[in-house]
Amino acid sequence: MKIFLDTAETGELKSAFATGLIDGVTTNPSLIAKSGRDFKEVVAEICEMTDGPVSAEVASTEAEVMVKEGRILSDIASNVVVKLPLTFEGLSACRELTEDGIDTNVTLCFTAAQAWLAAKAGATYISPFIGRLDDLGMNGMELIEEIRILYDQHGYETQVLAASIRGPVHVKEAALAGADVATIPPKVFSQLIKHPLTDKGLDDFVKDWKGTGQSIL
Ligand code: G3P
Repeated sequence: MKIFLDTAETGELKSAFATGLIDGVTTNPSLIAKSGRDFKEVVAEICEMTDGPVSAEVASTEAEVMVKEGRILSDIASNVVVKLPLTFEGLSACRELTEDGIDTNVTLCFTAAQAWLAAKAGATYISPFIGRLDDLGMNGMELIEEIRILYDQHGYETQVLAASIRGPVHVKEAALAGADVATIPPKVFSQLIKHPLTDKGLDDFVKDWKGTGQSIL
């Protein structure tokens, strides 16, 4: 499973990219607003930091305008993926941009039937929102499992991009459920790596090694 970072903060991206473990980036209008920066400028900057796909979301809710915005976003860099909402208009725009050879990420997916339509519209990625379903007392991971089965049974190549991830358990379960990608906030990326027993074990090893008075170098 690939890992994308769900952020528009270039500082956070820089340190995460240094691990070599990040395959791409997703942004959305809320993350752009949080960054306080110019949208196109941030997208261009992120695209320079990675060869991986970088999702940039349209702002309009009308298909015709979404297509125009999508083409502008796509011209920023060759690795831009145009993010579109899972609405009637968004799916129409997805079909048109796909026919132009532009990669798309259909977002705000909450049912397997919606995911099926996005695949029919030619979406490169579908973004089911796990955390927001869990917040309503529903089972977000079940949605990933259903989409996986549906896509495999019908031979759709749209990649399942698990989104709205709230913690390391979501990441593990998304991988086990067959998601192609998990897009995770930088905080969750750190949580995935860090474990108190790893830290304690390493402290002990460092102390014991010092006691030997030896050096490897
Ligand atoms: O970028 C889309 C998605 O990951 C947003 O997650 O935490 O706002 O539900 P969240």
